[in-house]
Amino acid sequence: MTAKRGPSIEFDHYAPEFARDFAEGFVELRSTCPMGYTESHGGYWVASSYEYARRVLSDDENFTVERSADGKTGGKIIPTAPHAPSIVPGSLDGAAHDRLRQPLRPLFTKNYVETKLGPVVRGIANELLDGLLDRDEFDFENEFSLKLAVETTFEWAGLDVEDKLGVLLMLEDAFAIDPEAGTGRDALAVATSEQFGAAAEVVRELVRKRAAEPKDDAISHMIAPDTGLTEDEVVSLTLSVAAAGIRNIGASLDNMLLHLDEHRDLRRELIENPGQISKAVDEILRIYSPAPFVARTALADVEFGDIVVKAGDRIAALVGSANHDETKFPDPDKVKLDRRDGLHLGFGVGSHYCVGNLLAKMELRIALETILSRMPEFQVVREKTRRYDLVGTNNGFTTMTVRPKPISSENL
Ligand code: HEM
Repeated sequence: MTAKRGPSIEFDHYAPEFARDFAEGFVELRSTCPMGYTESHGGYWVASSYEYARRVLSDDENFTVERSADGKTGGKIIPTAPHAPSIVPGSLDGAAHDRLRQPLRPLFTKNYVETKLGPVVRGIANELLDGLLDRDEFDFENEFSLKLAVETTFEWAGLDVEDKLGVLLMLEDAFAIDPEAGTGRDALAVATSEQFGAAAEVVRELVRKRAAEPKDDAISHMIAPDTGLTEDEVVSLTLSVAAAGIRNIGASLDNMLLHLDEHRDLRRELIENPGQISKAVDEILRIYSPAPFVARTALADVEFGDIVVKAGDRIAALVGSANHDETKFPDPDKVKLDRRDGLHLGFGVGSHYCVGNLLAKMELRIALETILSRMPEFQVVREKTRRYDLVGTNNGFTTMTVRPKPISSENL
């Protein structure tokens, strides 16, 4: 087949093959065609090597995250969902982006997340496990990972609503970021636009309360007069951040458990040396890349070797492949606790680098410390574990059954 614009590849991030093991799945693509063009979903370029994916994510002059003025093209998801509300600050570039990101910075520093939220996360993790450890098995994704992520992020924001999980699900639908929505994202956004309005009103009420009576939480900090943010902007930032950090945390935790189930030697090493857990977390984030595919639109003609990506073309950084690039990460599929190969792209790179990365790493480290100290012998029950059918936007699980204690022979 003749390529429309360059080397043609058969590629679709919503195809079942995409959910195959990243370690195996992208080796050939990366080595034969690190920049290829697929006709799927209206056509887009796929940057699968570390070098090209990093360039796409960090070159703000030539690639934009923004949608077109009519909202119908562009954005960070392919295909575009024109009716989905924009997630700020990640959907903006330049000064508009910086103005909204700036007030978030102090709320995500190492000191802030470790001191203020670290003990909260440890408390939530312990409380969740208190209710689970006596059971023969439980659904780790829905009864631990997702709940820990929701409780932590809502606590960070100061969103003390009753039905946190309900609000999250409503938000995910409204932003059309349900991990398995695939190409049905726009329809989902249309169908749930009223719910989005309702969620925004719940948050608006809280923002007004905090403006009148500030507490020590993110909403109060954002609505303080010195940030210069309007009420609408604080509502929007709160909704966005509440939605942005949760599924990725769930996916990371589940992948960690599965990895440590498959690699008992690594589990033993971490139990004996908990100081190494941070490094293991970062390596597992690299290997499983919870956000494996991040899109942009070219603003100008850009050369990658002898290939020219044209202005207006859609392009994706295939993070799930870049993080396995053997030229950057020798022995890429292994957790190496002494690896010093530089930044992986699991949290992106450049001006849109994940603002919540330190919160995420702290949350994952503390969750793993708690799990390894309280259920060191856990087992993942493979036949009752299911990865999302579509992992194009989130490499996570719909369910993961875990046995906290090994089955004793009398139970067999
Ligand atoms: C393991 C967990 C996480 C992963 C893998 C992850 C991944 C990412 C990636 C890849 C980006 C960059 C997207 C791009 O370049 O367009 C990003 C941006 C962002 N993330 Fe995260 N994230 C995680 C956790 C969180 C948490 C916990 C929060 C907040 C509570 C958060 C909030 C954000 C926000 C607001 C942005 C947009 C930043 C900007 O455009 O300036 N993330 N994340």
